[in-house]
Amino acid sequence: MSAKRVTFGSKLGVILATVGCAVGLGNIWRFPYMVGSNGGAAFLLVYILCILFLGLPVMMSELFIGKTTHRNTAGSFKELAPGTKWKYIGYNGVLAAFLILGFYSVVSGWTLEYVFQALTGSLKGKSVADFTNDFAAFSSGVWRPIFWTALFVIATHVIIICGVDKGIERASKVMMPVLFIILIALCIRSLTLPNALVGLDFLLRPQLDKINSSVILSAMGQAFFSLSIGMGCLITYASYFGKDVNIQQTAVEVAALDTLVAILAGVMIFPAAFSFGIEPTSGASLVFITLPNVFEQMPFGSLWSFVFFVLLALAALTSVISLHEVVTAYVLEEYQTSRKKAALFVSVGIFLLGIICSLSVGAVKGLSFFGMPLFDLFDYVTAKIMLPLGGMFICIFVGTHIQKRILKEAMTNNGTVRFYFFNTYVFFVKYIASVAIGLIFINELGWVDYICALL
Ligand code: PFF
Repeated sequence: MSAKRVTFGSKLGVILATVGCAVGLGNIWRFPYMVGSNGGAAFLLVYILCILFLGLPVMMSELFIGKTTHRNTAGSFKELAPGTKWKYIGYNGVLAAFLILGFYSVVSGWTLEYVFQALTGSLKGKSVADFTNDFAAFSSGVWRPIFWTALFVIATHVIIICGVDKGIERASKVMMPVLFIILIALCIRSLTLPNALVGLDFLLRPQLDKINSSVILSAMGQAFFSLSIGMGCLITYASYFGKDVNIQQTAVEVAALDTLVAILAGVMIFPAAFSFGIEPTSGASLVFITLPNVFEQMPFGSLWSFVFFVLLALAALTSVISLHEVVTAYVLEEYQTSRKKAALFVSVGIFLLGIICSLSVGAVKGLSFFGMPLFDLFDYVTAKIMLPLGGMFICIFVGTHIQKRILKEAMTNNGTVRFYFFNTYVFFVKYIASVAIGLIFINELGWVDYICALL
C-alpha cells in the first residue's frame, strides 16, 4: 500500500501544508482570548514551556508513526501493533477531528460573515453596544450562520477531492504566504497606534503569581490544539511525507512557526485593544466584537477589518482541510472506498454536526449537555480531554511499544541525518511528557484536591 500512496511533492509543500494544519483559528481566535482571560504573559510563558517539553515530543512521535506506516490514524496503529487495543488511540483521533470540525466549521463560517460585512461597509459607524448585540444576534440566529458554515464546508470539500498534492498542497502554498503577509501588515498597523506598548507589556511581561493549575491546563490544552497534536492529524499528514523528509527538522520548524503566528496574533490584537481602551478579557468573542470595533475606529477601518477577517478565514480553511483529511483518509482506507465518496460522506457529516453546534449557540435552547451548549462542550471535551489523553497515549505507545533502534532509524532517515538529542527525546516521551500530561489532567479533574481533602 505504501508504494502507491501519494506524497507531498516538495519539502516546501510539506512545511506549508503542515504549518497550515497547525496555524488556524487556534492561533488567531483562541490563543488571544486564552491569553486575555488567563493572566496575559504568565499564560504565554507556560504555553511556551508546554510547546517545548510536551508538544514537541508528541509531535515528533506522531510524525514518526505517520511517516513509518503511510496509513491513516487508526490504520497506522493497526499496522504497528496488530491485534491490540492501541488502535483506539486512532479512533479517538478520528472522533476528535469530527467533533472539532463541528464547532470549528461554525466559527470559520462566522469569519465569512464578517468578511462580507466589512466588504459591504456594514461594520461602519457602530458603537460597542451595536457590535455586541449584532454579534449575539448573528451567532444565535438560524439561517445566516448555517449558510456560511455550508459555504465553508463546500470550499473544504472541493480542495479535499482534488487530492493531497493537487488540493491540499497547492492550496497551502498559496494561502500560507498570503496569511503571513497579512499578519505582518496588521502587526505593523497595531504597533504604530498610540499606547501600543501597554498591550505589548500585557502580552510579554509575566506576573508569575497568576500561574495556577487552571492556567497550566488551559495552556497545555491550547498548545495541543494549536499544534494539532494528540489526535492523529499529524499522523495523517506525515503519512504523505516522502522518504527524505526529516522528522525532527519538520517538527521544530512547524512548532516554531505556529508559536510565532500565535505571538504575532497577540502583537496584532493586544496593542490595538489597549490603544482603544478595551479590556482583553472579553473571551471567545474578542475577535468578533472587540477587534472590528477597534478597526472601525481607525482610518480606513473597513479595509483593516476586511483584511483581518480574510486572514482569519484563510487560517481556518487550511486547518479545516487537515481535520477533514483525518476523517476522509480513515473512511477512504478503512472502508476501501473512493476519495470522492469518502469526502462526500465526511462533508455531509460535518455539515450536519455544524448545524447542531450552530443552533446550540442560542437558537435552540435544549442543545446543551452538562450545562454547556454543544458548541462549548465539543471545544471543552476535545481540547481539554481527548487531545491531552491522545497525546499521553501516543507517548506511552512510542515509549513502550516501539524499539529504540527502529525509532532512531526513522528519526535519522536511516543514519543519513543527525539527531543530537535522540536520548533526550526518548526520555521525554517515555517519562516526562506522558507523566506530566497525566498529572496535569488528573489535577484539573479535581482528583488531587479530592485526595488531599481525604488525607
Ligand atoms: N491547530 C488548529 C488551530 O490552531 O486552529 C486546530 C486544529 C487543526 C486542531 C487540526 C486539531 C487538528 F487536528
